[in-house]
Amino acid sequence: MKAITSLLAVSLTAGVIATPTNNNCCTRSAKEIQWNPCGDELGINATTPLFCGSLTVPLDYTEPESEETLDLQVMKIPASREPSKGSVFFNFGGPGGSGIVEMAVLGEVLRALVGGSYDIINIVPRGTGNTLPFSCYETNEERSASAARAPFATNASNTALGSVWAESQNRADACLHSQNTTGSLIGTAFTARDIMCAVDVLEDDGMLRFWGMSYGSLLGSTLVSMFPDRVDRVLLDAVMNGHQYYRDDLDQATDADSAFSGFCAQCVDNKDSCLIAGDRTAAELEEDIYTALETLKYNPIPLSAGGIGILLDYATLKGQIYNSLYNPITWPKLAQTLDILFSGNATSIIADFFQPAPPPAPDAEAILGIKCSDKLLRASTLEEVLPSVEARWELSRIGGDIVDVSVLQCARWRMPAKEQYAGDFQVKTAHPVLLVSTQNDPNTPLVSARNMSAGFEGSVVLEQAGYGHTILSQASLCTVKITSAYFENGTLPEPGTVCEVDAVPFSGDPGWVSVLTQLSSVDVEA
Ligand SMILES: *[C@@H]1O[C@H](CO)[C@@H](O)[C@H](O)[C@H]1NC(C)=O
Ligand SMILES: *[C@@H]1O[C@H](CO)[C@@H](O)[C@H](O)[C@H]1NC(C)=O
Ligand SMILES: *[C@@H]1O[C@H](CO)[C@@H](O)[C@H](O)[C@H]1NC(C)=O
Ligand SMILES: *[C@@H]1O[C@H](CO)[C@@H](O)[C@H](O)[C@H]1NC(C)=O
Ligand SMILES: *[C@@H]1O[C@H](CO)[C@@H](O)[C@H](O)[C@H]1NC(C)=O
Ligand SMILES: *[C@@H]1O[C@H](CO)[C@@H](O)[C@H](O)[C@H]1NC(C)=O
Repeated sequence: MKAITSLLAVSLTAGVIATPTNNNCCTRSAKEIQWNPCGDELGINATTPLFCGSLTVPLDYTEPESEETLDLQVMKIPASREPSKGSVFFNFGGPGGSGIVEMAVLGEVLRALVGGSYDIINIVPRGTGNTLPFSCYETNEERSASAARAPFATNASNTALGSVWAESQNRADACLHSQNTTGSLIGTAFTARDIMCAVDVLEDDGMLRFWGMSYGSLLGSTLVSMFPDRVDRVLLDAVMNGHQYYRDDLDQATDADSAFSGFCAQCVDNKDSCLIAGDRTAAELEEDIYTALETLKYNPIPLSAGGIGILLDYATLKGQIYNSLYNPITWPKLAQTLDILFSGNATSIIADFFQPAPPPAPDAEAILGIKCSDKLLRASTLEEVLPSVEARWELSRIGGDIVDVSVLQCARWRMPAKEQYAGDFQVKTAHPVLLVSTQNDPNTPLVSARNMSAGFEGSVVLEQAGYGHTILSQASLCTVKITSAYFENGTLPEPGTVCEVDAVPFSGDPGWVSVLTQLSSVDVEA
């Protein structure tokens, strides 16, 4: 408790803009969207037909007199049953993800989860894709020269925390310098208004149907709180604590250690595909990995290939473990990587560490641009943020020092969004909200879903057993039945409902092919 109280002493940023009284969208935006097929253009084998278009919205909602507009990229997966009953707006999270590739690759699964009667629409968020792309460096050389001077883990050594803190200042300066004209026109409140613009343009009943994952759940919570009367169906998936997102992200890694214990337990239960298990118990394996990570802190492993060398260090490997917990299909691969800690033999993984880096995306810093400009807390000294660092380390041994990094980066941000949501997430919505989180999610713990649900009258939290981040990470026929019934009929599950998953542990298969097959055979019977 001490940590939390002292954090609140950190000053609130001045100048939170009052919420504009109406959306001012219809007067300034185009009245329709021209849809063109775009699956082929993306160079991805889309699993469903895909259409792209553009939506004109006001550039700056805080300037109601201005005529300036912005063209947003929009994408659509048409409903599987004609005629479509309307749209479900979808956000893939990040923040900073454009969702373009996911719309193509995951179309079938998305359709199953919303039930098939609605078009699924991705309004590519400001700051991402080609709409006000947020990038702090002109070239990759500039980026690597200025960034990544600090390790991506605050407990990587006894000097790491200070380096992360110092580097945050440089990064905030670089972003302010390169984004000084449009950098404050991105962020969640404006994106929420953009989505309501799309509702005005596309939905005959003027009502919002929305599904947001991870950061998308925060966007959804913000939408619900800003426009409660317009909520028809809102599914919040991998739910973030909104109070904390706008401040210090304190509880994020609450369930990360149980997720890591799950990895170790499944490894030991599947020794044939997880050679690091050896004769260990799950608890021994877990402790041995932590011990090896401590050794790695001061003894990084040199890896070299073709005359180029890198150091495999604590921050790299711990970051890889934490990221892997989002997605259980990566666990067999993670086990293979971790073998280096015990055997020292890098033969089977060395190629992974020498992949040529992909060219930087034009929106490379969108995640910081959105998240940091949203935040209401800033700090000017390391002492001010120490209590929250200690609280995160206390909460999670595997993820506490990893999630610290972006919180510290945001603490020194100097470019607040022109509109920041500063409300309390207490609303009565026109139709109740459905929330769902998995029981062992490294980044959005169940406690956050319960916290948000407490503010949304009549809402229900569905728990998905198993692992991973979002309901896409492991297939569950039970979850599909509940979410599709919610979108189709508005029905909510009984409070306390827990859905089992249909993914086979440690198989590298999320189980979707089998669940989609079961669903289509149900359709045939009916
Ligand atoms: C798309 O599918 C075709 C046929 O299955 C295949 O030949 C092609 O390589 C795929 N393209 C991509 C980008 O995956
Ligand atoms: C604003 O950004 C531009 C483009 O990067 C830069 O040339 C200019 O110096 C910046 N201005 C300030 C005040 O940082
Ligand atoms: C290292 O691993 C590779 C394959 O993973 C194996 O072929 C090789 O024999 C191992 N080297 C040693 C020294 O154990
Ligand atoms: C931080 O590092 C210390 C010393 O290496 C270690 O004992 C502790 O468990 C670490 N805590 C976290 C959260 O990484
Ligand atoms: C939700 O979380 C916030 C921030 O941690 C806390 O202040 C609030 O009391 C919590 N609400 C409930 C109902 O748990
Ligand atoms: C919606 O309700 C109808 C009528 O009760 C039912 O037949 C249908 O299966 C429900 N849809 C879903 C997806 O549960």
